[in-house]
This record gives sequence, structure tokens and C-alpha cells, in this order.
Amino acid sequence: MATLIGTESSVIDTLNHLVELEFDATAAYEAAIRRLDDPVARDQLGQFMNDHLRHIQELGHVLRGMGQRPPNAADFKAVLTQGKVIIGGLVGDIGILSAMRSNEDDTHQAYAQALERDDLAPHLQSTLTGNLADERRHRAWLEDRLSNL
Ligand SMILES: [Fe+2]
Ligand SMILES: [Fe+2]
Repeated sequence: MATLIGTESSVIDTLNHLVELEFDATAAYEAAIRRLDDPVARDQLGQFMNDHLRHIQELGHVLRGMGQRPPNAADFKAVLTQGKVIIGGLVGDIGILSAMRSNEDDTHQAYAQALERDDLAPHLQSTLTGNLADERRHRAWLEDRLSNL
């Protein structure tokens, strides 16, 4: 489902779906942090989770500027293939970090596709570009950590 984000007919739908994706990603991070043994990875994932919380705030700000009520935690939808329920059932850092890397593939793809829209206001384009860079950085760190385990 995350892979369809960006292809909606309206940009408001794209933004709503990105916020739902970000809530799901944050919940997956929470579950991962609870289960990881490696304190370095736990600390790093805590920082990445904060980036996702910031993305929720920023996208919500954009939506409110367009007269919309952004989705909140109560509107939670499972969007990611390796969401919080799956992460919560994993044992072992390699499996957990691999699942989170797969989630960051999804978040990265969602922002990349959203940025292909031709109806983005300049301020929105810059917000999405910044978020895409964060998702790329998250994924790169997870890949690097996994290659060293
Ligand atoms: Fe994010
Ligand atoms: Fe991320």
C-alpha cells in the first residue's frame, strides 16, 4: 500500500497517506526500539523515530494550511508491510533491523513518488525533498549497520 503513495488524484490524498505512513513508521520504530539488544542501534533508531514525528508535524502544518484536518494517531492505518505487529513478533537484532530497512525502502519510495507529482507548491516540494533525504539517511544507516553484523 505504501508503494501507491504519490499516485493519488489529489495532492491532499497524497499528504494524508504520507501522514498515515509516518504514524505507522513511528509505531514500527517504537516496537523495534523495545526489542533491540544493541544499545547503539536503539539510540540511533530513537533519533530516526524523532525525524518521523517531525515529519508528521510538518506535513500536518502543510495540510492545515490547505484547510484540511490532518490524520492523527487515532486514525491509525497499517500501511507498511513490516509494521509494528510484525516487528513486535521478531526476535534478534538482524531480523528487526532488516524489517526496519524494508520499511525505509517503503518510506523512501513513497516520498520519491510524491515528489514526481506536477502539482506541488514550492514550499511543499521543499518539505518533501527534506523528508526524502531523511528517509534515505535512515535506510543507509540501517544497511550499513546490517552489513557490519
Ligand atoms: Fe518520515
Ligand atoms: Fe525513516
